[in-house]
Amino acid sequence: MRIPFIAGNWKMFKTKAEAKAFAEEFAALYQGTDVRTAICAPFTDLELLVELFRGTGIGVGAQNVHFAEEGAYTGEVSVKMLEEIGVDYCIVGHSERRQYFAETDETVNLKLKKLLEGPIRPIMCVGESLEQRDAGVLFDFVKGQLEGGLADIAPEDIKKIVIAYEPIWAIGTGRTATPEQAEEMCAFIRATLIDMFGEEVADEVIIQYGGSVKPANATDIMNQDEIDGALVGGASLKAPDFMQIIDF
Ligand code: 13P
Repeated sequence: MRIPFIAGNWKMFKTKAEAKAFAEEFAALYQGTDVRTAICAPFTDLELLVELFRGTGIGVGAQNVHFAEEGAYTGEVSVKMLEEIGVDYCIVGHSERRQYFAETDETVNLKLKKLLEGPIRPIMCVGESLEQRDAGVLFDFVKGQLEGGLADIAPEDIKKIVIAYEPIWAIGTGRTATPEQAEEMCAFIRATLIDMFGEEVADEVIIQYGGSVKPANATDIMNQDEIDGALVGGASLKAPDFMQIIDF
């Protein structure tokens, strides 16, 4: 039985003061739900959010991490640093990081392995561009991302990874994938996980859809069999919108 998991990805939005205002507004609206939920925030907001959400059941996630234990990597943050703060999740391989910060399947793989040594659950993003969809290579491309990103990871550890299918053409564009398009790829991802790690493992993996999820389309997306959650960008910045999505 997979528990639905809906996470917000704030990207590079919200100062600490803005994060505090969100948390207070959200806590006032939040009555608890059957779904698991988390906010993935900028590094500078994480410690505050862990404190403010303590005891509420709302998780906190980072949006990136380095794969080394520690070292001369100016500007980077380690898994140990996130663990010390009490972060629950960490996004890995978001398409914006792949596009602007040279994230590759190899670095995704290294980051996943490092995170899996400890308690933080990775949220691994995959998804094709519009050109790849139009050229009909979307399934091959996502399969390659899964094979590269998940290489040499033990099946027991695979269960701890959340996979987020985020078609690049649907991110921040207002152009959501149809529920059928999202379901088709999420089903393909599950089938690929079955091939790679067996049915028992693949059955437990939470697969999210991300890309222009908003209150108006959350129900249709969440009602799909193979979609277990959502990774929400823009609509997670407003507490009432994110609340409505969680209450889908
Ligand atoms: P939007 O919901 O703003 O399209 O962003 C999706 C996303 O990239 C979540 O990680």
